[in-house]
Amino acid sequence: MKFIVDQQVQDIEMPENLKLNTFLQEFHSDCSSQECSFGYYGFAFGQSPFPVPKPIQDALIKNASKGAYAAISGIPELRNAISKYNRHYFGMDVTPDRIYVGPGTKELLFNLLEILHGTVILPTPAWLGYLPQIRFLKKNYHMLPTRANKKIAPNDLRRLALRLQDRQKILILNNPNNPTGLLYDRLELEEIADVCREQNIIVLSDEIYAQTTYDFAKFVSMGKIYPEGTFVTNGLSKSHAAGGYRLGYVVFPQHANDLKIQFKKILATEYTAVSTPIQHAAVAGFEISEDLDEYFKVTRGIHQVMGEYTYHALSAIEGIKVTKPDATFYLLADFNVFAPDLQKAKIYTSQKLSESLMVHPYHTAIVGGDSLVLERTDFSARIAYVDYDGVRVYQNYLDSKPKSSAEKTEFVKKSAPKIVAGIEMIKRFFEDVRNDAVKSSQIKTSSMMTTS
Ligand SMILES: Cc1ncc(COP(=O)(O)O)c(C=O)c1O
Repeated sequence: MKFIVDQQVQDIEMPENLKLNTFLQEFHSDCSSQECSFGYYGFAFGQSPFPVPKPIQDALIKNASKGAYAAISGIPELRNAISKYNRHYFGMDVTPDRIYVGPGTKELLFNLLEILHGTVILPTPAWLGYLPQIRFLKKNYHMLPTRANKKIAPNDLRRLALRLQDRQKILILNNPNNPTGLLYDRLELEEIADVCREQNIIVLSDEIYAQTTYDFAKFVSMGKIYPEGTFVTNGLSKSHAAGGYRLGYVVFPQHANDLKIQFKKILATEYTAVSTPIQHAAVAGFEISEDLDEYFKVTRGIHQVMGEYTYHALSAIEGIKVTKPDATFYLLADFNVFAPDLQKAKIYTSQKLSESLMVHPYHTAIVGGDSLVLERTDFSARIAYVDYDGVRVYQNYLDSKPKSSAEKTEFVKKSAPKIVAGIEMIKRFFEDVRNDAVKSSQIKTSSMMTTS
């Protein structure tokens, strides 16, 4: 029997994280060196390494018997808790009826793109989850490359919007940003909002990393700046280290009642409701408590220490430009200064760069530029700094919080030796590239990257 698959599905590539797994399996079975058995330095996976907060785990166990379907938009307790959470942490006054719960923000973003008419504006570099969705839905879209500071330039946004014929446009704003780790401040958001009002641009503000902002007082939601035109998405995945729970929410703009009816239709059609026990567990995650507050402070603090170390260590490699993260557990490293040397080693694309770093003796996984919606030949990469044992490091940080910069460096060396060694390996790789010592013939052609 031959099955015929719809063309738009064929046009979509395998999710990139699965590609990475396949690549790693093949690579390990192919490499006979002793060192290959140890694994690799993991700068590719974008997953919080910490334990799921205990109150969420307890609530999940307690509610395991709840087998009935839940309300489409989310159980009332959860929408209430999310409303209070938004007021407490983000200073946003959103009534529960503006909140919809879904199985992860990825799905909710997809649902929003399904119902909203208009050309999508995608600033780059970007998290690689957006583009396949836009393409799958056959929406018109335009990239908006950011400039040297890696943030949206309001004038560029205006210029692009003026060229688009659509009555309505949709800007995807990811703040704080994956892959750069950068945060937009209030003024920057206001300037973007001015253009959005003027050009009839709706904003999908993906704020999944909001709670990871190192200096938390600096986080401002676009939902506050442009409440009439912003959909804010957030969830449990990054702040609560619970990506596998698949629980996200969207806050609708003010005065969007007609739209809410359409949205509910889509949710009911596609997944009925999020798992009931998971929704009950999530209530515990969004309730305001000292325990949770402590958890956010500790995890933010650790991300910051790891981020500062990674930033300084990579910046010390001559010629490399690195974004200085304000939030998240990522930064963007620009290796383009090595382009001529890489080309001499027959490494012409970012994909090939990722693969070359993965093979023996480097064993280092990064996310290359083409997975960040950059040009294939752009040698920029996302570096995630979460390759350590989150349970142990969380405890170490509680036991003795590093204060001085020497203590912080010591903390990273002790708690995250693979980050330290992995950065050394990146340095060695580029030294070898410069000295013509990288053999591209060793490199198998396969695909590897990650979506998270
Ligand atoms: C920028 C960004 N948005 C959304 C998501 C997906 O979040 P969720 O697990 O809620 O679907 C991720 C996950 O890596 C992400 O990095």
